[in-house]
Amino acid sequence: MGLQAERASEFYSPDLEVLIDEATLKRRIAELGAEITRDYAGTTPHLVCVLKGAVVFLAELIRHIDLPITLDFIAVSSYGNATKTSGEVRIVKDLDESLAGRDVLLVEDILDTGLTLNYLMNNFLSRGVKSLRIVTLLNKPSRRLVEVPVAYKGFDIPDAFVVGFGLDYAQRYRNLPFIAVLKNVSVVDPPGCSARS
Ligand code: IMP
Ligand code: MG
Repeated sequence: MGLQAERASEFYSPDLEVLIDEATLKRRIAELGAEITRDYAGTTPHLVCVLKGAVVFLAELIRHIDLPITLDFIAVSSYGNATKTSGEVRIVKDLDESLAGRDVLLVEDILDTGLTLNYLMNNFLSRGVKSLRIVTLLNKPSRRLVEVPVAYKGFDIPDAFVVGFGLDYAQRYRNLPFIAVLKNVSVVDPPGCSARS
């Protein structure tokens, strides 16, 4: 059943407003999994999940990919904060395995300014991938600074700060089974929470 909206408001803040409910998320992710299954037939896609935000999406997505797959994880942090980002990204935890010759699917929770995925895309291309595509659960087109080619996209959302289904604010809310807008929040990362995860 999971943490539902009313209960979540008790724990966290009265300022949550559900944007995408659990059933809608699951339905769309199943469609993405089916698309990936079709497109990658005959191959073994290597899914790279950007920690920590994309783990919930990844876990749901791979259950709908009807192919042999392999998984790896990477964690990054950005210099600066959410409003004044420098575009410089630092790898905090690198991949365990080589990407050389692999059909890589880069799995991200949300595409916002594009700086993180732009950096990771170029970084991965330099590691000799056979192919590289991006799959993101959410897309906030209004805040884009760098254009990033996205092959698979769950939902376009408005320019609001969202939490849940893996996404956090100050490391909280990741366990909500839905996506909610966190109202009355400034997008500046709180002290010690500048990791873009
Ligand atoms: P960007 O595309 O480089 O700006 O950064 C994307 C990253 O910023 C995501 O992976 C998230 O960690 C974080 N982020 C951006 N927008 C949101 C949001 O609305 N809620 C939670 N995290 C966000
Ligand atoms: Mg992230």
